[in-house]
Amino acid sequence: MGLKIIKKIEDYKNFYKDFLYNKKIGFVPTMGALHEGHLSLLKKAKENNDVAIMSIFVNPIQFGENEDFDKYPRTIEKDIFLAEKLGIDIVFYTDENELYPQKQTFFVSSDSIMFTSRLCANTRKNHFKGVATIVTKLFNIIKPNVAYFGQKDYQQFLLIKNMVKELNMDVNIQMCPIIREEDGLAKSSRNIYLKDKERQEATILYKALKLGEKILTSSQDLLDNIKLAKEEIENLINSSKLLKIDYISICNASLLEEITKKDLEKKNSINVLIAIAVYIGNTRLIDNEIVSVKIN
Ligand code: PAF
Repeated sequence: MGLKIIKKIEDYKNFYKDFLYNKKIGFVPTMGALHEGHLSLLKKAKENNDVAIMSIFVNPIQFGENEDFDKYPRTIEKDIFLAEKLGIDIVFYTDENELYPQKQTFFVSSDSIMFTSRLCANTRKNHFKGVATIVTKLFNIIKPNVAYFGQKDYQQFLLIKNMVKELNMDVNIQMCPIIREEDGLAKSSRNIYLKDKERQEATILYKALKLGEKILTSSQDLLDNIKLAKEEIENLINSSKLLKIDYISICNASLLEEITKKDLEKKNSINVLIAIAVYIGNTRLIDNEIVSVKIN
């Protein structure tokens, strides 16, 4: 079948009942403004399922008051062109009237400090509640078997992974690698906000991750390395007058908590997450890397 654009929940439900109920559905939820990161998720959805579905919806409830909801890039024609080119079967392109027809009074949120106060949750107070709520709504509507998320939003991936497990949702959650520009900058819909000089300095994020990786994998004590990596990353980022640190976190990749001596006992290796968020002018960029570190 060619690309089908569905805007109404009711229309999707009818189509599902008639044609999709027995198909393996691969789903990529997006806010549009597609870049190669999204395209890599869409390709996976297409390759590994009977039907590939993408949603496009800029979700207001995951943006804070002073964030970029109004100016978030909306490039629907280009997005649909790209989806068609990749052979995506359905674009669920919907709006607030459909998804929030009345003031939303039920939300999905986590009590875990992983999603209330660590990393991005600390700066973006209700962000993950907004994400968990919209993703649940979309899962309930689309009924996917598999859903794809990018590693760039690693904390978001963990949120969804934990959510489906704890709420017994029958969706397999897959994480796909970060796609980068040639100079290392992670692809992001927000990169278009950057002015020339800011764009140049944004590469410091990737350099900082690589510096962190190098220090973490050197043969010293891991806890000493973590301390040193944090200091060196901080110095590197602060060497640019344009970058302002939101956070630098070097932590346990599955729990997002500080690594202690106890975590290293009886282990051969540990996955360490280096996660960075910076402001460049008014633009907030995030990036991360997971480093598997051998324990001596
Ligand atoms: O990653 C995104 O683009 C959004 O957070 C998502 C998952 C589509 C929910 O609005």
